[in-house]
Formats: sequence, C-alpha cells, structure tokens
Amino acid sequence: MSIPGLSIFSNRSGYRAGIEDYLFEKLNRLNLETIVNREILKTSVKSNIKHATWYQPISCRNLKLIFHEAQKTRIPFDHFIDIGAGKGKACFYAAKNFRCRKITGVEFSMSLVKVANRNKTVFGHRNISFVNEDAASFLLPSGRCLVFLFNPFDDVILEKFIANNYAHFKENESVIAYAYDVHRETLLVNGFRTLFRSAERKLSLYKLRSHFQKPK
Ligand SMILES: C[S@@+](CC[C@H](N)C(=O)[O-])C[C@H]1O[C@@H](n2cnc3c(N)ncnc32)[C@H](O)[C@@H]1O
Repeated sequence: MSIPGLSIFSNRSGYRAGIEDYLFEKLNRLNLETIVNREILKTSVKSNIKHATWYQPISCRNLKLIFHEAQKTRIPFDHFIDIGAGKGKACFYAAKNFRCRKITGVEFSMSLVKVANRNKTVFGHRNISFVNEDAASFLLPSGRCLVFLFNPFDDVILEKFIANNYAHFKENESVIAYAYDVHRETLLVNGFRTLFRSAERKLSLYKLRSHFQKPK
C-alpha cells in the first residue's frame, strides 16, 4: 500500500515505514519520520561521526516484536534506554507500550536532542529524558535495563560501549535489544548470548553470559 507523504521515507537499513508509523507520528503530533543524513548530524564528538550511521526511526512493527520478546524473558525491567535515540521515537513508543519506570534516550547529536525535547513537550510524558552524550563513553545506570540499539554505529563504538559497561551487565539483569543487528558478532565474541533472533527482520535480544570473564 502506498501512503501519501511516506514515499519520502527511505527503506535504508531494510526497515520501511508503514501506516502505523504515519499514524503514530501524526496522532501524537510528533516530528519523527524524516531521515537525517550523517553529514548533517551536528555533534561535538566529531571523531565518532565516521563511526555513526544516520538518523532513521525504527518502525512500530519492529518495536512491537522487541517489546513482546523482552516481556517473554519475564525480567521486570526498570528502565528502557535507547542508545542513539535520534528524535525519540522508540522512547515515545515505549512510554505507551512497554512497562518500566524510566525511559532515557542517549544521543550524540545536539540538533536531534533538541527535536526529541520538542517532541517531549508535545507528548507530555514525565518519565522520559533525553541526554546529549556519546555512546562510546556513556555509562548505564544501575537497575534492570532494556538497552535498545537500532544500528546506530559500527563495531568500533559498539565494542567501546560494551567494554565500558561490562560491570553493569555483570551486576544487573539487563538485556540488549539490537535492531538491524549487522554487528551482532561483536556482542557474541564479547560474552553475550542470544535470547531471541529473527533472521528475517535482523532483530535480536542478548544477555551477558553469567560466567563470562572480560578479556584483559
Ligand atoms: C538509525 S538511528 C536510530 C534512532 C532511534 N533509535 C530510533 O530507533 O528511532 C541512529 C542514531 O544513533 C545516533 N548515534 C550515532 N552514533 C552515536 C554515538 N556515538 N553516540 C550517541 N548516538 C549516536 C545517530 O545520531 C542517530 O540518531
């Protein structure tokens, strides 16, 4: 089906927006769907731009599957954290469809954080916050987190993020949800095991193996 106005939304990362995405944006009066190319992402962390992908929102259809699979783990998650949150779509969708106390979007582009905060003013949910930080140095807070990544960057930054947060994954019952999981091998070689994967959608969930020793 073709939806007026949706033809401008690209099919990059294999995910195409559908009617639900169109309605989620319009009915909530949010600014989410237009893609922002890497060249115009404004960030103070210039050295990591070359490792980034671009801004493209996740589809509602894929978020629905992630939340369904996360709930099947029976872990009572405290916190949903989107690493590379862009304009905040996953956070807003989580506020409506995923049970947790807190929602945080981490984004290294100041301009996208501004859009996300403008969206938040319209959306009006108190437990969502957006922080302008680089994933390569971001430390996860304690608690059971569902850590969401929609192909935000390459394996270099993913490896740094994992290395900096080993202690968190050892001490907390947190899960990584990875959409368009092109660098999933990085998680597997760093001690994570797959809880769920859809090869067709390239969506997967991971947890750190309990006896895994961090490589020196
Ligand atoms: C494909 S978009 C995903 C947006 C959002 N998670 C969603 O699903 O709607 C990837 C985002 O990651 C951000 N990003 C890339 N590298 C980053 C880094 N090192 N730290 C924080 N954010 C980063 C980009 O600016 C972009 O907004």
